[in-house]
Amino acid sequence: MKVNIIGAGLAGLSAAITLAKKGIPCNLVSLLPSERAQSVLAEGGINGALNTMGEGDTPAEHFEDTIRAGVYLADENAVRNLTEQAPEILRELRDLGVPFHLENERIIQRNFGGQKKKRTAYARSSTGKVLMTALIDETRKYEVRGLVTRYPHHELEDLLTEELSANSKSSCCGALIRDHYTEEAIVLQGPVILATGGMNGLFPGETTGTVTNSSDAAALVFSKGVRFSNLEMIQYHPTTIRIPGKRCLISEAARGEGGRLFTLRGGNPWYFMEEKYPELGNLMPRDVVSREMYFVAHDPNCCGQVWLDLRHLAGETWRKKLPDLREEVIHYLGIDPAKTPVPVEPGIHYFMGGIDVDISHRTSFRNLFAAGECCSQYHGANRLGGNSTMGAIYGGKVAAQSAAKALAECSGKISGMQAQQTVKEGKGLVPVSEEAAQQISKLLLGALGIVRTEADLEAAIGEIDRMLSGRKDRSGDCTDFRELPAAHSSNPKELRRLLLAKALLLSASCRKESRGAHYRSDYPETEDDFRTKMISYAAGAEVFAAPEQELPPG
Ligand code: FUM
Repeated sequence: MKVNIIGAGLAGLSAAITLAKKGIPCNLVSLLPSERAQSVLAEGGINGALNTMGEGDTPAEHFEDTIRAGVYLADENAVRNLTEQAPEILRELRDLGVPFHLENERIIQRNFGGQKKKRTAYARSSTGKVLMTALIDETRKYEVRGLVTRYPHHELEDLLTEELSANSKSSCCGALIRDHYTEEAIVLQGPVILATGGMNGLFPGETTGTVTNSSDAAALVFSKGVRFSNLEMIQYHPTTIRIPGKRCLISEAARGEGGRLFTLRGGNPWYFMEEKYPELGNLMPRDVVSREMYFVAHDPNCCGQVWLDLRHLAGETWRKKLPDLREEVIHYLGIDPAKTPVPVEPGIHYFMGGIDVDISHRTSFRNLFAAGECCSQYHGANRLGGNSTMGAIYGGKVAAQSAAKALAECSGKISGMQAQQTVKEGKGLVPVSEEAAQQISKLLLGALGIVRTEADLEAAIGEIDRMLSGRKDRSGDCTDFRELPAAHSSNPKELRRLLLAKALLLSASCRKESRGAHYRSDYPETEDDFRTKMISYAAGAEVFAAPEQELPPG
């Protein structure tokens, strides 16, 4: 039996390498090959308190910045572990040959938002690409030794689970995957690590992340009853531009190197972040910057547009640190950012919420683990730039260690009926229709913007309920969506997506306060009572959300 990793980006590769180093075999399953994973798009860098810039940086300060930026919602013990391990992970990456920006053999670290010290290691503004190249290469070493078996172009179609006894946790005993090209289904037995990335598919065309992260895997496990947390915490990155089919990131590195945001007030440039936040200015945490951009864009005394001013950056900065960012702007907007301010607007960039995991990356199901953006762990109510790449690599390691322990426990007895039945059907599930995807996205965007209200959330929940009941009618009397893949002609992926969408909205509605990325104009204060995870889960066709302390244990 092997450990089954679903997703082959940074978190998945890190888990595979960790297992392989212990001599434990794994299957590495992904819709697209690693070279096309979302992680490749990461631009600005990866955080770790190496203190190479001589500012006296320490893991303790990295911890404090992370917890403060996440507005005290992240698990402090987990974040402490992450920040303590981060310098060693950066050294391991350098030893693997990651071409970080070096000067005299010293890793140079740059300023990033919400951090008081220069802590972000980088390679121009293509850090994700170089990290992935190194980890892909490392994984191949173990692949040739038979320790890693790759299944590219395979989709997670079902999670195989069993109820061990009436009152115990559900247990995961494997995964059913399907080849996209041949439609052949394969049952993989053993513990599962989900590393399936963010839920971009809920917002097609509106995220900086790739739409091939469809959110189908998240919706599948949600519909099976796995607990999620903090789904209301969606990060709007301050500087994005719209390009065909998606949003394109203008890396925070541009502000780290001195970029300035301004609008026009009375016809004159107003560098509002510098005026309002003299200490960190343009490098305040992303939730703050995006909110301020929203406010000035809606201020009748201003012109409605915000620009990023990079005209003053030195030629050497463009050449050595941001050459690819400059090319990107020239390519997509037809302007040279060294000469002309770049019109920017906040766009969805990251999901802090996701599958709820504990400090060992265990989910609410036994033998099921999650790492990377699909899970909710290190970022609380708002993530620091550069912490996702580190969180994915570190989280992948921890999940792998936990899965290795679980491997021995796994009974290996897949409920044969379920597996066989699904395999016999012989073809994959149809995708969510374009029409339904757009409808769901429109509802979510309308209610889960930078500024939220109860009225908008309630209206969107009502619409989702209407869509759900329409589909229930078409599905006969079925109220247990866990059975849908085998039992119904109605589109199970659409039903699951609706359940997940409802969970995002309910979580936002239940969090009656403002915290980090979740800003409620009807509850503008941060409340101590809400310094807690917002848990959501599905039970059959019903979706529930409540603060963690109001729920029975997992
Ligand atoms: O702006 C950026 O380069 C983004 C980095 C991140 O989200 O970690």
